[in-house]
Amino acid sequence: MMNILILGSGGREHTFAYKLSQSQNCEKLFVAPGNAGTAKIARNVSISVTDFKAVKDLVLRENIEMVVVGPEDPLVEGIQNFFAEDEELRQVAVIGPSKRGALLEGSKERAKEFMALHNIPTAAYQSFTAESLEAGKAFLDTLNSPYVLKADGLAAGKGVLILENLQEAKAELENMLANKKFGKASETVVIEEFLDGIELSVFVLTDGKNYITLPTAKDYKRIGEGDTGLNTGGMGAISPVPFADKTFMDKVENRIIKPTIEGLEKEEIDYKGFVFIGLIKVGDDPFVIEYNVRMGDPETEVVLPRIESDLVEVFQKVAEGKLDEVELKVTEKAAATVVLVSGGYPENYEKGKEITGFDQVEGSHVFHAGTRLENEKTLTSGGRVLAVTSFGDDYKQALKKSYQNAEKLHFDKMYYRKDLGFDL
Ligand code: AMP
Ligand code: GLY
Repeated sequence: MMNILILGSGGREHTFAYKLSQSQNCEKLFVAPGNAGTAKIARNVSISVTDFKAVKDLVLRENIEMVVVGPEDPLVEGIQNFFAEDEELRQVAVIGPSKRGALLEGSKERAKEFMALHNIPTAAYQSFTAESLEAGKAFLDTLNSPYVLKADGLAAGKGVLILENLQEAKAELENMLANKKFGKASETVVIEEFLDGIELSVFVLTDGKNYITLPTAKDYKRIGEGDTGLNTGGMGAISPVPFADKTFMDKVENRIIKPTIEGLEKEEIDYKGFVFIGLIKVGDDPFVIEYNVRMGDPETEVVLPRIESDLVEVFQKVAEGKLDEVELKVTEKAAATVVLVSGGYPENYEKGKEITGFDQVEGSHVFHAGTRLENEKTLTSGGRVLAVTSFGDDYKQALKKSYQNAEKLHFDKMYYRKDLGFDL
């Protein structure tokens, strides 16, 4: 039995809380800062995920023995190292990589170099800075449309531009490098070859040496039906991915997962946590689009519910470096989640709307994302508000159930995509 802290406040963290709270091994569960959903199954603590001093105080005060890091920011800022280097915190298990490991997400250039070094298939690329702007434009001349420009650093999911027109691509490159469109994040820009295919997410849990592959998932990033309009954090997800069959997943394992974990080991990177591999299937072959060093959101809302093993035990094995002793149990059932968002998201939207209908929901699990409690009422507090997760014999059945229950939930200007799975 141990006390556990989850850092974060989204649907991903509510799902972690839901799963961890079911474990016999979880004594007291804390979420910082959490949301209205986590408040019902854990104790929310109102501190920022990047305020390491406040996290330390909480961990010591509440005898917390395990910290599960939800989002990337604290990882990129080095929360794992902060714990490892502190006399009083050294014994605490941190589920999340070291700062060097987190660079796989924190720097697109570093991720590309890592893939090149370890022969991991990805789009051809070159990177540029303000000094090499002209060379960058010349490189664009050698490529075919569409053009892919990526800000090197974290840019809240907005740092990737895909442009049809060469002149526009050159102008945007100049904007990013010379005018710092994304601030420090675009001081370096990666320009890469456009890959045409269908995307999926593969999640790997590793102790730095051993690994287990979690169920696959596919998320829907665009706000509009038919994958149109602006990019969002994610409008829904399904698991497993029907086209990720055994033959394809064997290629993923041999060409991508194994060399990734071996690469971490060779480079002596302390990595105890999730590797989220954003993949694209081009023809029959997998290529890496990006690495993230955490679970995906909303993919977590379909991946974790399918895992039947005790997640605290699994995390303990990660911390001990004994993940080879874990045999992950996963249900055969498919899962789907539909994300309910505030009208206007991902641009401007209103907050503070009362959400009703929770008691009408049957046969789905509602994970909270942008919600907060006020005088017993659940109010919206973000763009992505709820994720309605269901099981089914296949993703279609699971989606149908989620849609039935989405209709029972209400808040002013609520919106969701009704076409998830359209491309499968
Ligand atoms: P990222 O932030 O790296 O995941 O990029 C955001 C999105 O841009 C991805 O989910 C893809 O849809 C798209 N994308 C990124 N890189 C490429 C590429 N080389 N070819 C085609 N699409 C890409
Ligand atoms: N759903 C994509 C992500 O979490 O980055």
